[in-house]
Amino acid sequence: MAKKIHSCMKKHTIHLHPLGKKIQVNDQTPLIDVLHELGIEFPCGGKGTCGKCRIRLLDGEIEITDIHQRRIDQLELTPEWRLACFSKCTADLTLEIEQFNTLILADESLFDFVPQKGFGIAVDLGTTTLVAQLIDLSSAKVVDVETMLNPQAKYGSDLISRIQASLDGKAAEMTQIIRSAIGSMIEMMLKKHKVDVQKVILVGNSAMQLIFCGCDVSSLAIYPFLTDNLGFTHFHPAQLGWKFNIKENVTFYPSIGSFVGSDILAGIVATGLHDKEQYTALIDLGTNGEIVIGNSERIVCASTAAGPAFEGANISMGMRAVTGAISSFNLVDNEMSAQVIGNTFPRGICGSALIDAVAILHQLNLIGLFGEILSGDDHIHLIGSVRLTQKDINEFQLAKAAVATGLEILANHLSISLSDIGQVYIAGGFGNYINLENISALGMIKLPTERIFKMGNTALIGAKMFLFMNEKIPNSILVKTKHVNLEGDPNFQDIYVENMLL
Ligand code: FES
Repeated sequence: MAKKIHSCMKKHTIHLHPLGKKIQVNDQTPLIDVLHELGIEFPCGGKGTCGKCRIRLLDGEIEITDIHQRRIDQLELTPEWRLACFSKCTADLTLEIEQFNTLILADESLFDFVPQKGFGIAVDLGTTTLVAQLIDLSSAKVVDVETMLNPQAKYGSDLISRIQASLDGKAAEMTQIIRSAIGSMIEMMLKKHKVDVQKVILVGNSAMQLIFCGCDVSSLAIYPFLTDNLGFTHFHPAQLGWKFNIKENVTFYPSIGSFVGSDILAGIVATGLHDKEQYTALIDLGTNGEIVIGNSERIVCASTAAGPAFEGANISMGMRAVTGAISSFNLVDNEMSAQVIGNTFPRGICGSALIDAVAILHQLNLIGLFGEILSGDDHIHLIGSVRLTQKDINEFQLAKAAVATGLEILANHLSISLSDIGQVYIAGGFGNYINLENISALGMIKLPTERIFKMGNTALIGAKMFLFMNEKIPNSILVKTKHVNLEGDPNFQDIYVENMLL
């Protein structure tokens, strides 16, 4: 089954306009691998139908495949345009990112906004990655972007270890580190752009919120995980140790519940779920695995135990969707072929590839209904030295059952069936790479693929939209949103066990 992985380590430089950024990538790197980290959205999930990821080729060469050309023709783009979702880097390039010249995207539509004076900064404070965008409030254009790994990673990569470190006396240090990291990202942008910043809006999960705000996280460690201090929190920059001026204030947006943070509130706004008549779901497969279902009248949400496996935790060769992670597997002539993020040597597999691997092995009858390896071995070689163990498969089953069960119980709470859900949006780091056929076939989301959409970083999109809204809209969402404790449902065990089957 093993197939040789093509990998060429030649490097190219990409200059990005209008930001003036320069990045180095390996030869053959798909542009989606590097651009989504800057907050660039791929609204149709890379199908080539929306045209929103288009880039203008100012210098260099991007080869166009037949399908890429067909999509360019269908979208009636002139010859200098390419679609980032179909492009690979095979030479030094200078690109103009059209999305930074246009308005904020929400869903596949443009976000309606009232122009304001000055500039704003939207920050997605992720457990793993921090992204900050400087936005011109008169035009809603992105003027600059900074990204950084969350420096709290030294206290552990997941939320539990961060909460533990905080309880072990590191709380004040962790607060100081994250405030100063975000302050330095903003400072870098303000050095390049001498502009007046009106406001900074931050979103993140509840633990990140409490740590940034300097609040006690101990309630997140003890059942029933009830915590205060999750509402709007306003700061003057000096309180955060920031030496630059912000005209209005710095605001951390409110969490919905103890493990459903303002990143999900932002996701609700980004998907427009709270305004739709039809029931819509949002699934964020980040560190926590949060699920929301709702419409303009009622919204329910929950956190599940699905996140860690899809972030690579507990998977023997698991890793996050970063350079060196296998992002997808395909079956070509009965052989598995792999895509590696950043077109480099594979170091492990990320969540999307874990889903593909299980789907393909099941399709090939190498694993059975209960996830058992039918040969009796304790692992299966996938490609190169990358392998999947029996335990990895079982971890996947737990994670996929957690998502399927979450959807089912939340639908029950609304007294609707899953088929009443018109659209499911998938957010999260590896969402761009996910194979929708496989998640549907494996029963993780029991809906046809036409109803499932990838939406990238909904937290950042929502944070940007918050810059143009008053607090009434998020407050009205909070009022109609109910947080559900999935494990408290009397049918939880039965539904969960049934959803473990492949
Ligand atoms: S055309 Fe829609 S993401 Fe590229």
